[in-house]
Order: sequence, then C-alpha cells, then structure tokens
Amino acid sequence: MAATNEEVIELLKAGYCMELETVMNYLANSTNLDGVRAEEIKKSLAADIVEELAHAQSLAARIKQLGGLVPGSASVTLGNQRQPPEDTTDVVAVIEAVIEAESTACAHYKKVIRATDGEDYVTQDLCIRLLADEEAHLVLFKGFLKEYKQP
Ligand SMILES: [Fe+2]
Ligand SMILES: [Fe+2]
Repeated sequence: MAATNEEVIELLKAGYCMELETVMNYLANSTNLDGVRAEEIKKSLAADIVEELAHAQSLAARIKQLGGLVPGSASVTLGNQRQPPEDTTDVVAVIEAVIEAESTACAHYKKVIRATDGEDYVTQDLCIRLLADEEAHLVLFKGFLKEYKQP
C-alpha cells in the first residue's frame, strides 16, 4: 500500500537530512586529506558537494509542494555517517565512508520509490533520478577502492 502524504513528507525530510550530512562530510574530507594519493579523491568529493546540495534543494522543493515544512538546522538530524578519519592520509577510510553513505542513500531512495508507487509519481520520479545519481557515485567510489586497496 502506498504511503500517506504525511509519511512521504517524513521520508523526504529524512533524505534531506542525509544529503546535508553528506555535504558536510564531503566538505571535510575534500579538505582534510593530505598527499599525492588523495588528490583525485579530493577533487571528486569537491565536485560531489555541489551535486549533493542540489539533491537537498530538490527534496526541499518537493517537501514544500506536498505541503510540508523544510526543517531548519535545529531539526536536521546528523551524526549517522562515518566521520572523517583522524589520519589525514587514510584515503581508504574516506573512500569506505563514501561507499557507506552512498549505499545508505540508495537504500533510502529505493524505499521512497516503493512507498510512492502507484500514488505519488512526481516524488517517485524525483527519487528515481536521485537514485541514479547515487548509484553513479557508488560505482565510482567502489572503483577507487579497488585501486587504493592494492598493496
Ligand atoms: Fe545525494
Ligand atoms: Fe551521492
């Protein structure tokens, strides 16, 4: 059975919080890392910040269209993602954290796609597009992990 309008708004708010947390951690990781090996990862993460922020903007617009309120900083839940490593040369820890964040995002958008099926096609379409972006990020970072994990 399809979710109610209220339930869809809550799911979108959860996605909105995730996207903002991703922005914060990619911002930190794209800045903190040191070393030659880190350069490509930093560049890739810096480019992703803009994309993840655009995701938050699309989710905010849909929350508004459905009659909900976009949460302010006091209501945004953070702290669910793996934190930037203390060791600023630990590129693998960063790549693994990104893979974890992107997998969680994919799982969340799949949940919204299922919850809106047959009912809220516009939200469903939005989440399918977001899922496509997150899957692309996931594949990219899984590829980075293959290379960086080699001894
Ligand atoms: Fe995203
Ligand atoms: Fe992403």
